[in-house]
Amino acid sequence: MQIGVLGATGPAGRGIAARLASLGYEVLAGSRALERSESAVLALQEKWGNKVKTLFPVDNDSAANCEMVIVATNWEAAVDTTILYSSALAGRTVIAMANGLEKVGQEFRPVIPPEGSLSAAIQAAAPEAKVVAAFQHIPASTFAALDKKMEGDVVVCGDDDDARNVVLDLVASMPDLRGFDAGSLVNAVGIETFAADLLSINLRHKGKGTLRFLGLEGYLPEANR
Ligand SMILES: NC(=O)c1ccc[n+]([C@@H]2O[C@H](COP(=O)([O-])OP(=O)(O)OC[C@H]3O[C@@H](n4cnc5c(N)ncnc54)[C@H](OP(=O)(O)O)[C@@H]3O)[C@@H](O)[C@H]2O)c1
Repeated sequence: MQIGVLGATGPAGRGIAARLASLGYEVLAGSRALERSESAVLALQEKWGNKVKTLFPVDNDSAANCEMVIVATNWEAAVDTTILYSSALAGRTVIAMANGLEKVGQEFRPVIPPEGSLSAAIQAAAPEAKVVAAFQHIPASTFAALDKKMEGDVVVCGDDDDARNVVLDLVASMPDLRGFDAGSLVNAVGIETFAADLLSINLRHKGKGTLRFLGLEGYLPEANR
């Protein structure tokens, strides 16, 4: 499967692009400016060599035409970027990993748009795309450390059953992440607001915590436990 990443020059997009390439996916790392994508991919190739041999620099136009597309721009630009590519994204599985957050003193607070979540706003921006919210709780540094296994649980929400299952399968292919089906896109508000709590906890406890559910081990495919 060819996966395009919009905004793959930031820590989150670069990290997930590199991680997916290291697992054998063909990944098109997009940017508004091809030269920024080229230098981001070159830096990853210098660091990881053959591990990222299926990662290619492109502009966002090309990334938006992949079978699966990840919106990884900063959250403020996620809706406008989706509107820009709404025709290209029609019928495609689109992963929304952006999260509206603002830092106020020693805490993060969620920024929730009128649609109910940023993921829902991304869906409204590309009504014919199959938007699935995922990966908001996985730190960019975890994606990018290709020499280390990943750890964490990924809550997955989306209105299209097939697209949600495609994303759950993608998560299952990423050792050692576990994906959980949390239902329709309306529930993405929980993912997005909890990200503010998680980042505030990490800030205040000076930690790098992520999310792990207890009691569900027996209910996941073996490969994903
Ligand atoms: N950082 C994390 O640990 C983490 C983890 C999970 C999820 N997330 C979410 O993932 C998203 C990206 O995080 P990040 O830290 O990588 O963000 P970032 O570095 O602030 O931005 C990512 C990319 O967005 C593009 N961009 C910036 N302004 C834009 C605009 N006006 N229009 C279109 N594209 C624009 C830029 O790419 P070009 O200039 O190359 O186009 C930039 O490199 C965020 O929404 C965040 O909530 C982050």
